[in-house]
Amino acid sequence: MSSVASVVLDKTALFRDLQYTPHPGQFVIHQSTALRRVVACGVRWGKSKVASMEAVAAALEPRDHHCVGWVVGPTYDIADRVYREIVMTMAEHLKHRIVSLREHEKRLVVRNLGGGLSEIRAKSADNPVSLLGEGLDWLVVDEASRLKPMIWESYLSQRLIDKRGWALLISTPKGKGWFYDLYRRGQGADADYQSWNWPSVTNPRLDRKVIEAERARIPDRTFRQEYEAEFCEGSGSVFRGVREAARGAWQNPIAGETYWAGLDLARVEDYTVLVIVNSKREVVFADRFTRIDWSVQVSRIAAACERYGGPRVFVDSTGPGEPIVASLRSAGIRARPFVMSAQSKTDLINNLALLLEKGEVVLPRPELWSAGIEELESYEFSTSDAGNVRMSSPSGVHDDCVVALALALWPLRRRSEPIFLL
Ligand SMILES: Nc1ncnc2c1ncn2[C@@H]1O[C@H](COP(=O)(O)OP(=O)(O)OP(=O)(O)O)[C@@H](O)[C@H]1O
Ligand SMILES: [Mg+2]
Repeated sequence: MSSVASVVLDKTALFRDLQYTPHPGQFVIHQSTALRRVVACGVRWGKSKVASMEAVAAALEPRDHHCVGWVVGPTYDIADRVYREIVMTMAEHLKHRIVSLREHEKRLVVRNLGGGLSEIRAKSADNPVSLLGEGLDWLVVDEASRLKPMIWESYLSQRLIDKRGWALLISTPKGKGWFYDLYRRGQGADADYQSWNWPSVTNPRLDRKVIEAERARIPDRTFRQEYEAEFCEGSGSVFRGVREAARGAWQNPIAGETYWAGLDLARVEDYTVLVIVNSKREVVFADRFTRIDWSVQVSRIAAACERYGGPRVFVDSTGPGEPIVASLRSAGIRARPFVMSAQSKTDLINNLALLLEKGEVVLPRPELWSAGIEELESYEFSTSDAGNVRMSSPSGVHDDCVVALALALWPLRRRSEPIFLL
């Protein structure tokens, strides 16, 4: 196998008709005839655009059989983004070619340039059963690095064998999982594969200044992965600058100062931790206690909060959730729920990492807050084979202080601006 079957369609002319001008990086990908194209580029690089335009071109290509192509994402929403763009492009420029559009099935059928039928379907990889079945002429996978490894091997690549179909896998990198392996194959190891790795700045439509400003707003490791499209190493400590930050002391309440608090409630075997910070992001108070009677816990938290003028308290409300928040509120605590999901926890921890890295948090000295400093220093991230990044304490070490501190600092986060196109 070496290249796609003879391409009759003139992509350049088609893209001109669609008023789409690929930037130089996108152009190279459209030009490639490799059966497996792997695109590992930074955010806002124009990855999804490349994918949707390739799909439109593939659907229009004349074929001697009913052509079927899939757009797959780790979730339905992600697949749907590319699918929508395809539908919109068709509806805007090639309406007469649309044969049927079944919204609930995410299935679009168009008449191709040879008069035959081409079908495009959007699929989610979080429902692998839906990936069984038909042979495909082409396959686009968006945010590929977020798919579980077995999905590509067990479900997707096989769909392409019968019809010698092509695949275009696009994504920002995520650790050194299966997507990285495919990327490596495209660097000369396998003639069927071709791969590219470009940072966001190589999209000439992105404003460099905005990207540089982002560098200052997100943790270094995140910037390298998301904007520089670096396949970051497998594990390491999440927080840098902890020792440098640990130079402060506990502080009594000061009239006129505003305080914020974070609360991580004990579950089975850990601690309840309350952390209070001031508007300069200095930790002024922390309390940590093992499971004691709930009413005792609440009055202890309420007393501390009252001393500091009744700060807003972000509390991890996962699990028992609302009743706990209600119970804290009835004790006069200004509790605000924070629902932990994989994404919201990453955002929460990233914010703390960034503030520490930029020297914008002051912690009590290690001898004053050993539990907190030790937890922060041992907190790790690791990348699973699936490419999922997990951030947690090593087993045996608690993370209640980390979570309570991150919750306290959540309202004081640095904000990222949206990335504008020029
Ligand atoms: N060649 C182009 N011409 C015009 N607009 C483009 C081009 N390439 C990308 N865009 C637009 O730029 C924006 C970002 O592109 P796209 O969504 O494809 O990037 P991405 O790399 O998939 O981003 P993300 O990391 O957010 O998924 C979109 O609004 C898209 O329509
Ligand atoms: Mg995209």
